[in-house]
Amino acid sequence: MTQMTSDFTVAEPLSRGRQRDYSLIGEDSKRAAEIGLKAAEWYHTDMPRKEMKGFMKRSDQPAIRDTIIWLGAMALFAGFGIALWLEGHPWLSLPFWLVYGVLYGSASDSRWHECGHGTAFRTQWMNTAIYQIASFMMIRNPYTWRWSHTRHHTDTYIVGLDPEIAVMRPPDFFKLVLNAFGVLDTWNGLGRMLYNAGGHIHPEEATFIPESEQAKVIRVARIWTLIYAATIGLAIATQSILPLMVIGLPRLYGAWHHIMTGLLQHGGLADNVLDHRLNSRTVYMNPISRFIYWNMNYHVEHHMFPMVPYHALPALHERIKHDLPAPNRSIAEGFREMWPALVRQLRYEDYFLMRELPSTAKPYREDFSRRGARRRLNQNNQKISKGASAMPSWIRACTTDDVEPEDVIRFDHEGRTFAIYQSPEGEFFATDGLCTHEKIHLADGLVMDNVIECPKHNGRFDYRDGEALGAPVCVNLTTYKVKVEGDDVLIEI
Ligand code: FES
Repeated sequence: MTQMTSDFTVAEPLSRGRQRDYSLIGEDSKRAAEIGLKAAEWYHTDMPRKEMKGFMKRSDQPAIRDTIIWLGAMALFAGFGIALWLEGHPWLSLPFWLVYGVLYGSASDSRWHECGHGTAFRTQWMNTAIYQIASFMMIRNPYTWRWSHTRHHTDTYIVGLDPEIAVMRPPDFFKLVLNAFGVLDTWNGLGRMLYNAGGHIHPEEATFIPESEQAKVIRVARIWTLIYAATIGLAIATQSILPLMVIGLPRLYGAWHHIMTGLLQHGGLADNVLDHRLNSRTVYMNPISRFIYWNMNYHVEHHMFPMVPYHALPALHERIKHDLPAPNRSIAEGFREMWPALVRQLRYEDYFLMRELPSTAKPYREDFSRRGARRRLNQNNQKISKGASAMPSWIRACTTDDVEPEDVIRFDHEGRTFAIYQSPEGEFFATDGLCTHEKIHLADGLVMDNVIECPKHNGRFDYRDGEALGAPVCVNLTTYKVKVEGDDVLIEI
């Protein structure tokens, strides 16, 4: 473990001698965009498409099983807690509340996360239902936080762009301790809920929530305010803290596990780089923590390939670990590595850890430096800016064998890029190649049930008519007419 030294690996602070500015509308935000760190291209381990499709495969079964266990255990432990409390044994009920609290205040964090990606269940309404429930428990507005997490994946640990940086530099240990009991998150969550319920969107929220989504933020904040008001009203009416032990307070007394695991995700590692091996951490954990955390301990893998559902992350880890720094072998070992780095950042804000890569890994590449990112961004924009030719014409895109049923390939033509699909029934379709959210190519995405899912933030489109099926994609894809002549697939552009 060494401090970064080469030209590429030194994460030169955007702030140049002053403290980092984490505001999303501040100096570092402007500077990150200027030097091409915004929405840049990130490194990922090479993997044949066929193999990747295997890892991305969705299934309802593991998440249904885990959800029954999760909600069943919550009901059981809360039930025992309430029964003992009402029997006049509040101290005996304590262990039950502690377990219930972790299931409420920590396990809901990972459910919120995975269902927000839409990868936990194959069936989308199940993802939506659990996402809404878990968002409530975490006091995270489901609409605001969907957009903030999208930004976190686009600009992971880029100062001024990522709204979800857990440990800012220099670290504030007092705040970290307060948050181990959820104090700041709860305070901020409730404060923002009341602010939104009053009909306001904060200027920082406005930088990442599209206008079309802002009314939903306000609506859900008002519903939650009513639920909390009713819970507090019940506590007052019954002169008992019990209603708050079930709703609200577990966000405090059960938060410690998600803070403990969450700090390890990026703590002490590099910021302002474009390789998740530099800014994210994979940690082997015990089975109970993995259940609570839904395998997010495989965090490098998750950031590299957010299309892969939680239950497939251990297998993905085995497949790509030759290209990653060695994981920490336990939570304790992760903290032993991270904590001294955080302490050192108190005095040397620019200090960070770099884990060495194994000899089998591709080195940290210079072409993923900021300069490389800017170059590619410009090239990408140039490609995108070339408009359609004046007269539509039929162009041969591929042969019928080039694209498998229920799959997609990329087709480039005269500076434009397209995605060509074959449905399970053998019909061919064509759309623009780039996602309408952040111009990521859809050919690396997952095709399932006539839907293409974007590889960057899991935005989903019906590839038959281009319809955007919900946040974070709001703008439909352009589609093109397709015909098959002999073995050739032609598109009209
Ligand atoms: S780039 Fe964000 S959903 Fe496609």
